[in-house]
Amino acid sequence: MADDLISFEGVGFAYGATPVLTDLDVRVPADGITAVAGPSGSGKSTLLRLANRLLLPDRGTVRHRGIDVATIPPPTLRRRLGMVFQRPSPFPGSVRDNLAVAAPDLTDDQARRLMARVGLAADLLDREASDLSGGQLQRMCLARALATEPESLLLDEPSTALDPAARHGIEQLARSLAEAGTPLVWVTHDLEQLRRVADHVVLLMNGRARMSGSVADLDAAARSDPKIAAFLAETPPEAREDADER
Ligand SMILES: Nc1ncnc2c1ncn2[C@@H]1O[C@H](COP(=O)(O)OP(=O)(O)OP(=O)(O)O)[C@@H](O)[C@H]1O
Ligand SMILES: [Mg+2]
Repeated sequence: MADDLISFEGVGFAYGATPVLTDLDVRVPADGITAVAGPSGSGKSTLLRLANRLLLPDRGTVRHRGIDVATIPPPTLRRRLGMVFQRPSPFPGSVRDNLAVAAPDLTDDQARRLMARVGLAADLLDREASDLSGGQLQRMCLARALATEPESLLLDEPSTALDPAARHGIEQLARSLAEAGTPLVWVTHDLEQLRRVADHVVLLMNGRARMSGSVADLDAAARSDPKIAAFLAETPPEAREDADER
């Protein structure tokens, strides 16, 4: 539907001979925070790459606000859908240089404000990005995505390398962005986090959306679907540790 931020209709995608998504039908509403959950390898990151046209589907259609993304020039699409990748990807140079890649006219004031929004000290601006810790890098990448003032944000496990206080800060930032009209798609392994942040939930399993709806819908689905119940019961502890630990 034109009102949705992103929709997947009958999407199939394989990396070579490895099928990942078989028949994905998902609607991401154009408001609030949509959390995407599912077992490791279920295709959550792939779903984000399809949304911003880093990949094209083998079958079916991915739409952004009703328009087939295959017809939207990638730079245009990516200005609308900011992306924070699961593995932080600093460019060479300082933190300031990294922010300037996204927004060449960024003033010192704006750079400092961006750092504050993601909970980083402004004196890190002149640090080599490659010297940052994993959690600092994650936040720098979020600041870099925010620097372009995207209409919406795709976040792939943006807080896995963070301590609880910093994680809470990112969750609050996400909430304030959503309330100010920036819809977010947030991939998370952390079911407690999902319960804190999600307005909408998409659960990926076996190449499809096993459920989508509210957190209450997820709990209701678990009562009638043993696979969902097992997924919710598992919360594998290693899932929180497989982020970059730099
Ligand atoms: N570039 C690639 N080439 C081949 N296979 C890939 C590639 N990227 C991902 N895969 C495989 O596709 C499947 C889905 O990967 P994806 O990264 O989307 O999963 P995910 O749900 O994000 O997993 P995680 O929770 O571990 O991040 C996995 O089996 C993965 O090994
Ligand atoms: Mg992933």
